[in-house]
Amino acid sequence: MRTTLSTSQITGTFLDFYRDRGHEILGDSTLIPPQGDPVLFTSAGMHPLTPYLEGRPHPLGRRLTGVQRCLRTTDLDEVGDDTHLTVFQMLGSWSLGDYPGDQSLRWGYELLRDGFGVPPSRLHVTVHDGDPGSLETWQRLGVPVEILGDDDNWWSNGPTGPCGPDSEIFIWTGDGVPSGTPSTTPSTDDRWVEVWNHVMMRYRRHPDGTLTSLEQPSVDTGMGLERMAMVLQGHSSVFDTDVFEPWTRTVSSLWTPSRLLYDHLRSSVVVIGDGVHPSNTGRGYVLRRLIRRILTTLWRDDPSRTLLDLPTDPIASTVDHYGLPIDPLYVHDVLVYEERRFGALLRRGRPLIERLLLRGPLTDDDYHYLHDTHGIPRDLVEEVVTAQPRQ
Ligand code: SER
Repeated sequence: MRTTLSTSQITGTFLDFYRDRGHEILGDSTLIPPQGDPVLFTSAGMHPLTPYLEGRPHPLGRRLTGVQRCLRTTDLDEVGDDTHLTVFQMLGSWSLGDYPGDQSLRWGYELLRDGFGVPPSRLHVTVHDGDPGSLETWQRLGVPVEILGDDDNWWSNGPTGPCGPDSEIFIWTGDGVPSGTPSTTPSTDDRWVEVWNHVMMRYRRHPDGTLTSLEQPSVDTGMGLERMAMVLQGHSSVFDTDVFEPWTRTVSSLWTPSRLLYDHLRSSVVVIGDGVHPSNTGRGYVLRRLIRRILTTLWRDDPSRTLLDLPTDPIASTVDHYGLPIDPLYVHDVLVYEERRFGALLRRGRPLIERLLLRGPLTDDDYHYLHDTHGIPRDLVEEVVTAQPRQ
């Protein structure tokens, strides 16, 4: 299928749909969780709403919608496949103790079919075996449904907190009629793309692992925006969607096509835009790692490559798309400053490491020596082994 909806239009369609059904639109969408939150970055649309899903009244009411930027470092190794990104946006709708799960599923179906024009014949859903209500709703809507267990259809945002059975919606992106089902063919048939998750938040998981029922059950839904854009725009990868166009065009003409570069450059811009500076701890270190992966990727093929050559256009496009309160030139300066720093570290570290490597593979003692005496951390040593500094 192919629609002409841009990513911004998809967002608008989603938010309008829920606003028309009494949902207030959440404003702030920063990657930085509220103070006191132990998590470094917001990793799910519902994350900032955790206390409200557990029962605290939300100042905007019981029906909410919004678009939340998220960062998942757990997906770093998957970046480069068709659908995983480090920073992405999640469209969400929430019933905080208001309407029940079956209403959420019916609205979800209506929005996909009428709002986004997805033919119902391309839909397939999964439900948890302990959630007969969702099963019945999908059966009434006539959508093929599959019943699975905790491994596939139970959602939580961590070891403790609100959680519950979920219902995942897949869209068939292949030509012709769908074949197989998402659960029987996920590894062999990526033409089934999961686009939306409706979580029936009915329980709270306690630190000792026990579950208790939430006094007021809620519904939390999340739709990966770039993934939805990929499906609706008829592409086979998120990197082919309109939001990546400025990055794919610039990076391929300057250097070489690389999904890692598209992803990490765009992600770094968003992280910097949310006020993070490269550093050796916490959020700053995640940013530093992203930029260093960009540089090692660039320098692996040609050590003379430099981020000085990166124009500000793609940075400005990402800043604009995310509504970041930052000057693209400043973002460029941060990237270039990190490049200089990393280049200097590599020039200093490489001879030391090469000398040690003459004796054989590096030992734990070598890593300790490099870290304690020369301030070169283990992951940097590993990067030095694969990277060339800029001459
Ligand atoms: N919390 C669920 C998810 O992130 C649905 O929003 O998938």
